[in-house]
Amino acid sequence: MHTNIKMTNQAGDHSLYVCSSVDSLKTVKLSAEEISFLKQQFDKKKEWVLLNRFGKTLFVVFVNLDQPKNKRLEACRKTASRLLAEVNHLGIETLSIVDVETLADETLAVAEGLALANYQFLKYRKDADEKRNSLSVIHLVSKNTSQSEVEKLDITVEAVYFGRDLVNEPLNKLNASRLAEIISERLRSVGGKAEVFTRKKIEALKMGGLLSVNLGSIDPPTFTILEWKPEQAVNGKPIILVGKGVVYDTGGLSLKPPKAMDTMKCDMAGSAVVSAVLYAVAKAKLPLHIMALVPATDNRPGGNAYVPGDVITMFDGTTVEVLNTDAEGRLILADALAYASKFNPGLVISLATLTGSASNAIGPHGIVAMETKAQKAFEKLEQHGEKTHERLVKFPLWDEYHEMIRSEIADLKNIGGPEGGAITAAKFLEHFTDYPFIHMDIAGPAYIDRRDAYRSTGGTAYGVRLLFDYFSGLNGSEIS
Ligand code: BES
Ligand code: ZN
Ligand code: ZN
Repeated sequence: MHTNIKMTNQAGDHSLYVCSSVDSLKTVKLSAEEISFLKQQFDKKKEWVLLNRFGKTLFVVFVNLDQPKNKRLEACRKTASRLLAEVNHLGIETLSIVDVETLADETLAVAEGLALANYQFLKYRKDADEKRNSLSVIHLVSKNTSQSEVEKLDITVEAVYFGRDLVNEPLNKLNASRLAEIISERLRSVGGKAEVFTRKKIEALKMGGLLSVNLGSIDPPTFTILEWKPEQAVNGKPIILVGKGVVYDTGGLSLKPPKAMDTMKCDMAGSAVVSAVLYAVAKAKLPLHIMALVPATDNRPGGNAYVPGDVITMFDGTTVEVLNTDAEGRLILADALAYASKFNPGLVISLATLTGSASNAIGPHGIVAMETKAQKAFEKLEQHGEKTHERLVKFPLWDEYHEMIRSEIADLKNIGGPEGGAITAAKFLEHFTDYPFIHMDIAGPAYIDRRDAYRSTGGTAYGVRLLFDYFSGLNGSEIS
């Protein structure tokens, strides 16, 4: 269960006030002593303060209005994530967050930070009940926030939890078939459509990229098509999300060293993000026609595994010389991107833990993103990135990079050399597109070893908040 966020009129026993100065707490019953203590803390530039009043708890979060809006919202999320430990330590189950000034967005951001930081993955622990955080419901009290904004936030939190759960599942609990089943069921539960292609159909379609990566596996591949198509959709052409679903990446015969392999259950994070976003879009009944394509398999060595040097034929007929079996993501994505053409999309966005190069370039603090024929959509996404703090860094897709993936004996090769790895991978993908295209390499932020404020250890579902926020604010004319 995710930490629920609901709208109410009145604060309960345990409350948190969001304000920019102690003076705006006039309407709250406070003793002179409490007011002077709060003032003292405010002058010391404390971000938050706790007043314990015989079993009833009062938190105050101070918002710094001197900061630009986006920075301020992120500070609110972070402060909230810091005070969460105290909320759970006190065993609080329901916390009311009160907007005493007109700080509606800041109040929502505090709720968001608390709910996202409260995520736990305990399903395989015997002591789960003991370890479970007490906080389970957040009540929002704000005259300046609409019911639909609160609902949108609650759906966002639910979708992020769903995405994180998927990434945190290990391979022995989540192979390609299980992934396809879970994401399909989840979308159907909110009125969306889902279809899963299994091995026979994938073979009949000649998806050579997906089939080749799967050769070393003992489990079959899957190709899932998710769709949300409301009658009142404002976009004529669908938007298609494509998510990398490598449920485990050993590197295949170009085997990864142990340290690099440890966290490779996260290599399906792209598929988790696109599935969670589609779930959120359907649950919120957004008036947009959106689809998601999820090619899935594990990548491992095996008796029949594809080998460096192989020439494979992709779904669209392109031949590829495989020079490194660890560059598998682009092979399964290429088939999905070529398949996307048949839907005549207005915009396609791929999400993938595609390259160590992206992670090396900017670390866990943003997404390396590139674009062809989709400049307008990209700029819009950049703005939502700043707002949600799931930020994009634009890399080029200059023609010159194409030279680096030319092969002597096939149309393309699947690696481009030591330089510009995130770009040559995207350049490879671009070859399979004939529509406005944005690629997001989430290898840096998708999975973290240590909690970072409201981003819990393990899968982060980075990209869900960005894309859902983007879709929530979209009208038909702004797409590409
Ligand atoms: N799944 C990896 C990329 C990755 C690295 C994701 C670190 C998350 C964290 C991908 O399949 C891969 O192995 N890429 C290779 C490509 C290379 C062989 C051209 C890489 O980046 O080293
Ligand atoms: Zn790989
Ligand atoms: Zn991979």
